[in-house]
Amino acid sequence: MPVHGLTRILLCLLPMWRVLIPVSSYPQHVPCQLMQRTALCNDRKFSSVPAGLPANIEELQLNHNDIETLRNNSLQLYTSLNTLSLACNSLDRLESNTFKDSNLLESLNLANNNLNIGYQETSLALRKLPCIRILDLSENKLNNEMVSLLLQNLTALEYLNLSGNLLRRLDETSFRDLQQLKDLDLQRNIIFEIDGAFDGNSKLQRLNLAFNYLPCLTEFHMTQLVVLNASHNSIEWFMSTQELSDTFQLETLDLSHNKLFFFPFLPSRSHLRNLYLSHNILRFYEHMANNVSFPNSTSAVEFYNLQKYNNNITAQLWDDNLHGDISALEILDLRGNQVAYFPQGFIQKMPSLSRLQMSTNCLETFNLTSEQFSGALYELDISNNRLNHILADDTTLAALGNLTYFNLSLNDLKRLPIGLFSSLQSIRSVDLSFNNIDICHSDEAEMSTHTLPGCVDWKNIISLRQIYLKGCSLDRIPTSAFTGLSLTHLELSDNPGLAVQNSLQSLSSTLQHLGLGNTQIKDLDFSSFQRLKSLNLSKNHLPYLPSSLQNTDLKVLDLRDNRLLTISSGQAYALASKLQTVFLTGNPFNCCQTEWFRTFETTKTVNMVGQSNIKCEDLFQLTHRVEDSRSFLCLEAGESMLWYILLFVPVCVSLIGISIIVLLTFKPKLLQNSIKKRYLKPTSY
Ligand SMILES: *[C@@H]1O[C@H](CO)[C@@H](O)[C@H](O)[C@H]1NC(C)=O
Ligand SMILES: *[C@@H]1O[C@H](CO)[C@@H](O)[C@H](O)[C@H]1NC(C)=O
Ligand SMILES: *[C@@H]1O[C@H](CO)[C@@H](O)[C@H](O)[C@H]1NC(C)=O
Ligand SMILES: *[C@@H]1O[C@H](CO)[C@@H](O)[C@H](O)[C@H]1NC(C)=O
Ligand SMILES: *[C@@H]1O[C@H](CO)[C@@H](O)[C@H](O)[C@H]1NC(C)=O
Ligand SMILES: *[C@@H]1O[C@H](CO)[C@@H](O)[C@H](O)[C@H]1NC(C)=O
Ligand SMILES: *[C@@H]1O[C@H](CO)[C@@H](O)[C@H](O)[C@H]1NC(C)=O
Ligand SMILES: *[C@@H]1O[C@H](CO)[C@@H](O)[C@H](O)[C@H]1NC(C)=O
Ligand SMILES: *[C@@H]1O[C@H](CO)[C@@H](O)[C@H](O)[C@H]1NC(C)=O
Ligand SMILES: *[C@@H]1O[C@H](CO)[C@@H](O)[C@H](O)[C@H]1NC(C)=O
Repeated sequence: MPVHGLTRILLCLLPMWRVLIPVSSYPQHVPCQLMQRTALCNDRKFSSVPAGLPANIEELQLNHNDIETLRNNSLQLYTSLNTLSLACNSLDRLESNTFKDSNLLESLNLANNNLNIGYQETSLALRKLPCIRILDLSENKLNNEMVSLLLQNLTALEYLNLSGNLLRRLDETSFRDLQQLKDLDLQRNIIFEIDGAFDGNSKLQRLNLAFNYLPCLTEFHMTQLVVLNASHNSIEWFMSTQELSDTFQLETLDLSHNKLFFFPFLPSRSHLRNLYLSHNILRFYEHMANNVSFPNSTSAVEFYNLQKYNNNITAQLWDDNLHGDISALEILDLRGNQVAYFPQGFIQKMPSLSRLQMSTNCLETFNLTSEQFSGALYELDISNNRLNHILADDTTLAALGNLTYFNLSLNDLKRLPIGLFSSLQSIRSVDLSFNNIDICHSDEAEMSTHTLPGCVDWKNIISLRQIYLKGCSLDRIPTSAFTGLSLTHLELSDNPGLAVQNSLQSLSSTLQHLGLGNTQIKDLDFSSFQRLKSLNLSKNHLPYLPSSLQNTDLKVLDLRDNRLLTISSGQAYALASKLQTVFLTGNPFNCCQTEWFRTFETTKTVNMVGQSNIKCEDLFQLTHRVEDSRSFLCLEAGESMLWYILLFVPVCVSLIGISIIVLLTFKPKLLQNSIKKRYLKPTSY
């Protein structure tokens, strides 16, 4: 009996003990990290909201836990909360009274959960949040019906993230109650139709519709919108309502990665500054207007709004004046389209244009004089077109006083206007790679003034820092080619057989990156290149590393695809102390001289790119990974194949001997029999 009584007392004490422990141990054992009024409880395998946090916390982060249901009482201790984050749990519902005491909650992140399961109950919970301004419901497998219910009565909402859900169609009921909405992220849904969905959201400023299935955006009339991102859809037409006399607030429009045939029909008044149209199939059609070659071509297309016949739109296709207001444009990105020319006066309509990105289009000639770019132009990228001509006069070039970056690579240029670069006062970076140009000899440029020379010249352009001349079929660089320049980058790779002579020495005090890959360069003296940080010597048949490399400060060195057998330990040591990245694959290294590899490997600051693909050859010309080279049988330097044979022959001979002796000892009969069989055949008398 007394024993029983004791057990009972103990059993009663146990729950008390359990209850007391968390309370008494606070604050020593707070389950989460606290920072002022924020509790960070991310990634802790919690299956419910932890108790035992200070009651006055204002922010609670519970991302990446295992909470499945947010219970009615789970937040009752924390009535001061204004921010709650429950992203990446397995939440399928919030019980309807979860927020009954959370009057201050303004920001709620429920991203990446399973709210599609318990959305009905969850919607009741959300309705108790009169102050909620910020709500993230992204990645919850929510469809239209679920979203409508969840958003009911959230009248204070300003920021809403619905990305990565299953929305298909948006109409006027979708966001009806959200009169305060400013920022709406709808990317990565399956939206294919929008019909008056945002008419009630008069404060909406940022709208992201990227990665959906929209076939067109017509009748665009959201005058208050500042940023519209509709990239990565299937949009063939973008047309704003032209009749509106209001000025649109639109500043950024992203229609990249769509199927636009025509330049978008922009609002007739706007502040549009950034227009992203890359990766469409857009071109200009001015040549089609009133052209006798196309007598029957349609000149207008009409769009019928099938639901309410009151807003048919007609577009005059060939009239390139209908682009709308582009007068404030600063960035125009047209990469990857089919533009062959600009309509007359088009460039002049953009007096603030600072970046024009035209790479990968169909331009054949480019007349800078007739286009009349503004002096604000900073970046001009016309790479990867079919340009064979660039035309410009001195006055035009002198007006481009801000042009800093000029990319002409991947064209068919053979000639450039005289003094193209020397007239550009701010030019820093010129890419002429993959053209057929030549570099002028000192007197050539002067001789051929007033005619188009077949060579480029950039002597004494003090602003110039970067020149790219990859794959220009250059065979020689005149000694004086770079005099008066302070280049930091020079790219000469892919000019096989290039003779650089002494031209590079004048750059030795400034050059930081030098590309000499695939030039068949032999030995070059790098000892005066004190600032060199990155050097590309790949594909050059180099049999050994230039010794002058030791004295440089290289951080990146590309030695791929050469004929290096080894790297001397002195060089490896000197390089390893400074290098950060080294490329060494594709060399026939000797497996027995791989000390350099250990040096690089043990220096933790060096990254050997593709380390496990660095191969070496052993004495029998078998290929191994240098990584495994510790396991090869190697001979000291100076030893020859003969030693190998001398070592090998006695071993083999003794092995054979031993086998014979063993055979004879254990199976003498076998031998006798075979001898008998062969030589002692019974003869017939
Ligand atoms: C939600 O709004 C509707 C009107 O849109 C109103 O009738 C209803 O009472 C509101 N419900 C709550 C819970 O506030
Ligand atoms: C919306 O959520 C997605 C996924 O959770 C995220 O990648 C995106 O950045 C969010 N949008 C904004 C505007 O914060
Ligand atoms: C538009 O959205 C896509 C996808 O999120 C993003 O990559 C792109 O940078 C956005 N565009 C702009 C102008 O912000
Ligand atoms: C008519 O179209 C042809 C073919 O595209 C073009 O070469 C020509 O310049 C155009 N004529 C006019 C007046 O634009
Ligand atoms: C253009 O239209 C006229 C009258 O409709 C027709 O006779 C002619 O064959 C058409 N031309 C072409 C090239 O289609
Ligand atoms: C729009 O087009 C439809 C179909 O052709 C037509 O019935 C309707 O009258 C037009 N509406 C207006 C306002 O022009
Ligand atoms: C380039 O444009 C200027 C000015 O419009 C013009 O005078 C010149 O003829 C054009 N050059 C060529 C080759 O079309
Ligand atoms: C060139 O750029 C500077 C600085 O960004 C700017 O102040 C100046 O107005 C620009 N020049 C022209 C002609 O736009
Ligand atoms: C020039 O354009 C080409 C092709 O678009 C690109 O690969 C290259 O990196 C650009 N050059 C520079 C210096 O940015
Ligand atoms: C070095 O030049 C070669 C030949 O042009 C090129 O393939 C390689 O990518 C360059 N290496 C680095 C690190 O850029």
